Amino acid sequence: MKILVVGNGGREHALCWKLAQSQVVSKIFCAPGNGGTAQEQKTKNLNIGVNDFDALSEFANSNEIDLIVIGPDNPLADGITDYLEKSGHKVFGPTKEQAKLEWSKVHAKETMRRLSLPTANFEVFDNKEKALEYAKSNDLARVVKVDGLALGKGVMVCDSIDDVEQALSSIFDRKAFGDAGQKIIIEQKLTGEELSILCLCDGKTLKAMPACQDHKRRFDGDKGPNTGGMGAYTPVPLYDKYKKQIDEQVLAPINRALSEGTLSFKGVLFIGILVADDIPYVLEFNARFGDPETQAVLPRMKSCLAKALKACTDGTLDKVNLEWDQGASLCVVAVGKAYPESSSKGEKITVGELPDNDKVQLFHAGTIYKDNTVTTNGGRVMGMTGLGKSLSEASSNAYKALESVSFNDMDYRKDIGAKAMRSLAQ
Ligand code: GLY
Repeated sequence: MKILVVGNGGREHALCWKLAQSQVVSKIFCAPGNGGTAQEQKTKNLNIGVNDFDALSEFANSNEIDLIVIGPDNPLADGITDYLEKSGHKVFGPTKEQAKLEWSKVHAKETMRRLSLPTANFEVFDNKEKALEYAKSNDLARVVKVDGLALGKGVMVCDSIDDVEQALSSIFDRKAFGDAGQKIIIEQKLTGEELSILCLCDGKTLKAMPACQDHKRRFDGDKGPNTGGMGAYTPVPLYDKYKKQIDEQVLAPINRALSEGTLSFKGVLFIGILVADDIPYVLEFNARFGDPETQAVLPRMKSCLAKALKACTDGTLDKVNLEWDQGASLCVVAVGKAYPESSSKGEKITVGELPDNDKVQLFHAGTIYKDNTVTTNGGRVMGMTGLGKSLSEASSNAYKALESVSFNDMDYRKDIGAKAMRSLAQ
């Protein structure tokens, strides 16, 4: 197979790395890719942006590409799958309508309600006055979500009614989110721990990958602003504790809806879950692989990723048996000190000798490889994934290997997976 991967983050490097291990894959192209995909075996970067659907289609035509794998959310929301499928290509990724589970939070919540999934109570509004009136009459309603994609900034978790009013002013008066804020959700605030489950879907069935936990806050102890994700690990003890409920109340109804045709989805359905008061609530859907969840999950995959993704496009996922390493993995993301306020650019990255390849894997994100030199080019620069028999072994492998990486103003969280390791030790 010749595969074209669209995207340039750590997720896409992990996808190329895993696809390159497959016997059935002869060549991978990554558009536009990063400094890691530039050096990955069987892989070549292309100077084509993720939104240049014409150029992607033309390249796929003239290079007999067998499968196109879409990484990021924006092109999916813009209909990249529809466009490329219409041009005759096989695409791993949802159509624009299917990806609405990610690009419209109102649609996502309505789908959760329709499928009777456990989810926080909510109401939808298109004006400030009614929304504020509702929040004033309901002390629990303290989460404000804008409907559309908002660069990860569209969810405002408020502590007080004053905070809600400020959030509503920024959306409706100052139009801080543009069209994305035309409709909003006011939702019950839940307090608890989150986990994510990435599920492969072929339109009729789903297969869940091992549950994973991201660390969204910038600093240790879950402090500071939200980020794209500062690290992730798998397996998640919290999932093991609530496995039966999650399987029965979340995964089974989604699988049923897919098989009955009342839900249409092909690609990766990313299910964000928050456990509060012993109930696993569905918090959000994404319509793509998570980042950095993918960098944690794929190194544990023993099956062939290329065959699994192709089965999703062929509607034959039920014939695929996904096998996973029984150990643990943990990915720590290295960023520039000023992230998420600003990105790191042009800083030279040095990577010393890394230990045994079976125990660690370095995934590039915001990097460029040119003239044998790797430089920074983004907020999240690299992720180091450690593997081990246990979470603590995976953690120590990741953190030890990260000492071999350096660039000016490099920073990372020192507590990825720490809470889970503490809970396992109790
Ligand atoms: N790590 C969260 C996401 O990919 O959306």
